[in-house]
Parts: sequence; C-alpha cells; structure tokens
Amino acid sequence: MDALKITGRKTLSGVISVSGSKNATLPIVTAALLSDGTSILRNAPELADVQTLCRVIEHAGAMTSRYDDELRIDGSRVDRPEAPYDWVRRMRASFLVLGPLLARFGHARVSLPGGCAIGARPVDQHLKAFKKMGAAIELDAGYVVASAPQGLQGAEIDFDMPTVGGTENVMLAASLARGTTIIRNAAREPEIADLAKALRSMGAKITGDGMSEIVIEGSSSLAPFDHRVMADRIEAGTYAVAGALVGHDLTVQGFEIASQQALIDVLEALGAQYRLGDGCLTLSKIEHGHPVEVVTGPFPEFPTDMQAQLMALMTQIEGVSSITETIFENRFMHVAELSRLGAEIAINGPVASVFGPRRLSGTAVMATDLRASASLVLAALAAEGETIIRRIYHLDRGYTDLEKKLQAVGACVERVEG
Ligand code: UD1
Repeated sequence: MDALKITGRKTLSGVISVSGSKNATLPIVTAALLSDGTSILRNAPELADVQTLCRVIEHAGAMTSRYDDELRIDGSRVDRPEAPYDWVRRMRASFLVLGPLLARFGHARVSLPGGCAIGARPVDQHLKAFKKMGAAIELDAGYVVASAPQGLQGAEIDFDMPTVGGTENVMLAASLARGTTIIRNAAREPEIADLAKALRSMGAKITGDGMSEIVIEGSSSLAPFDHRVMADRIEAGTYAVAGALVGHDLTVQGFEIASQQALIDVLEALGAQYRLGDGCLTLSKIEHGHPVEVVTGPFPEFPTDMQAQLMALMTQIEGVSSITETIFENRFMHVAELSRLGAEIAINGPVASVFGPRRLSGTAVMATDLRASASLVLAALAAEGETIIRRIYHLDRGYTDLEKKLQAVGACVERVEG
C-alpha cells in the first residue's frame, strides 16, 4: 500500500492549477443514466471515486471511456437498474444512481450505503422524497427496492435539513418525472448549480438552483449532455491553506472565488495577506496570526470538507482557535494523528480547541478519511523533518496528482511503498 513521505519546512511558491470537482462530477455522471445517448463530461478529474462510480453505472449497463480529461458515458444500453453493496459501500455517492434509475425504469434496487468513517450519514431524506413522488419503497436485506410502475410524479419536497446528496438525487429524478417538483430547504452548494447546468443542457427545466427553493418541471425524455465540470473548490481551499501555512506568493488558480468566500474570510481573520485575481488567489505564510472561532455549516457557511485542513493551519497560530463541527458527528479523527505530530487539540463534543502555535515534528501517521488525509499532508508540510503518511488511498479518492502539484511548487513529497 502506498504512503507519502514528506520532508517539511520547505517554502512553497509558484502556481497550482485546480482540477475538476469531484463532488460535482459524481452526480453529473449519474445524470448520464437519464438519457439513451452518449454524454460528454469535460474537465473530469481522474480520481478513484470517479472510477468507482463508472464501475457502478457500467454494472447497470452504461459504457464509459476516457480520453485525457474527457469522460464519455453511453447510456443507450442501460438495462439493469441496480447498484450492488460491494460498490456502494466503497463510495456512498453511488447512492445517487437511485434517482435516475428509478425515474428512467420505474423501478430500481440500490444498496443502502451504511455508515462511514465520519458518521451515520442516513439517506432517510432521499427516501422520503421518492415516496412523496409516488414510489413504493421497501428495504430488503440491506437494499432499497423502489418501484413506481406508472413513473414518478412531481411533488413538493420539504427537506428537514439542506442535504446535498438528497437535493441532487431528487433533481435527477424530477427531471424525468411527470409534472412539477418543488424542493424546499434545498442545499445551495455550487455543485448543485453545476448539476442543474448539466441537466439543463439535457433539456431539463430547472430554476432556483443555488437558492433554497428549486423548481423542476419534468420532461418525458432527455438528451445526452456535453458539460465542462466546475473546478474543485475543496482542492483549491486545501492549497490555499498550504499557502497560508508555508507559502511565499503561492498562487492557486482556476476556481470560482465566490465558491470559497467563507474560507477566504477565515484566512483573512487569521491574519493572512492575500491577493485576489481573476479566478486565482495568492497567499503567503501567516506571520502574525490571530486565533479564530469557526463553525461549519451548509453553503455559504464554512464547509465541513475544509475543517480538517484549517485545523492544521490553526496549530501554527498564536492563541486558542476553535472549530465547531455541525454537519457530521464524528469528523475529528484527524485530531489524534495531528497530535502525534505535536499539535495540542482538545475535543469537547462538537468543538475542537486548537492551542497554538505548537512546533510540529515529523513521524509516521495514518490517514483515516479523505479530508483528514489532506490535513495530515498540510501539517507534514509545516513539520520539522520527515513524515510518513500511510493509507493514502483516501487521498487518491479526491485529490488529482497531489504530489506532482506540490512538488512543482517546491514541496519535498514523494510516494513510497508503505
Ligand atoms: C456531500 C459531499 C460531502 C460533504 C457533504 C456536506 C458529495 C459526494 N459529498 O455529502 O463531501 O461533506 O455534502 O457538505 O458531494 N442527512 C440526513 N438524512 C439524509 C441526508 C443527509 O440526516 O437523508 C444529514 C447528514 O447525516 C448530515 C447532513 O444531513 O448531517 C448533510 O449531509 P449531506 O449534505 O446529505 O451530505 P452528502 O450529500 O452525503
């Protein structure tokens, strides 16, 4: 199993280009199941999670092929509306095939995702919505068996919380349902707007994406899409934090600044000096920082997917900073590993207090999930000496060419056999 060897305390400078967004790519790939033509996704990141989803839709009968960053998905031979446990347990976003398969075939059998490292993560909101759209839902041996022999019917959906995956699953299904669907308390993440853009290019009639009420008028058939996926705002944010930690004029380029405004505000409050350009952000190491209190929340609040990386930066800031995690109940697993590098962090329920600055020094650590792994990479970049990060298959799920991108701006990072 591969590991990353990082020798810290190198100054990073130059330009890092952001790749296509993982979290936007996944639902858009499932949108290809709504059409019987060949869809084209441009700027598609080559990541383990995207490959996993391709295997899932191939199981259903789709054919996928890739030419560099262009992913083609032929939906003409999709004939098996199911997703087995073996794939869904590897990546819970596979559950997003339920909406499109149910809408296209009137029935689908998709494994429940189960819990994951960062919490229970139920799918009750997805199922409640499909029931409201006329589907009969049964749970059978760990599978969701959904059927709507007359097709799905548009409905008014009121989510209990703004769920990203739930909003996406319903948008996908409603695009091919009869009548109008209204989603209230919808998630407002930029990836939702990117999915809406792809669906609109298929002929779907969607308004309100990016706001908390989305209206979808169902169509009887949809054309394939040709869509360029948005840049990965979490990847961009991760490298921005690297700049604030060990950078000297480190530029992160090719992403929508508005998609990471909450992070930029926090970096500014921490004392970062930065310059904004057209789709790019240039940062240097924070010299005289101030502690901050951050609370994660649904977009446009501070993203839960950035809190682990931010925590690595907080270890280097004078005073007591804190992060309150409100989205997932078990998302502080990186804390034990950051502590092995020399961080001092106290956890009290959903609040992590970070005492800084602490001198970090390299040692062997273990990645536990995707963003936790990114946090360890950042801490290792700031640590004295050599850090070995094991189980980096987590990183390969979500960061395109991480070590190459970091090497190109001066980091001493190498992939070794763990
Ligand atoms: C997506 C992102 C993930 C990010 C998360 C929150 C993808 C592939 N993943 O995950 O990276 O961390 O948004 O921004 O885009 N909930 C329920 N019942 C449901 C659905 C959700 O209780 O049916 C709860 C969850 O447990 C969680 C909250 O709602 O507490 C938000 O979850 P959700 O937005 O659905 O996260 P994901 O779509 O799984």
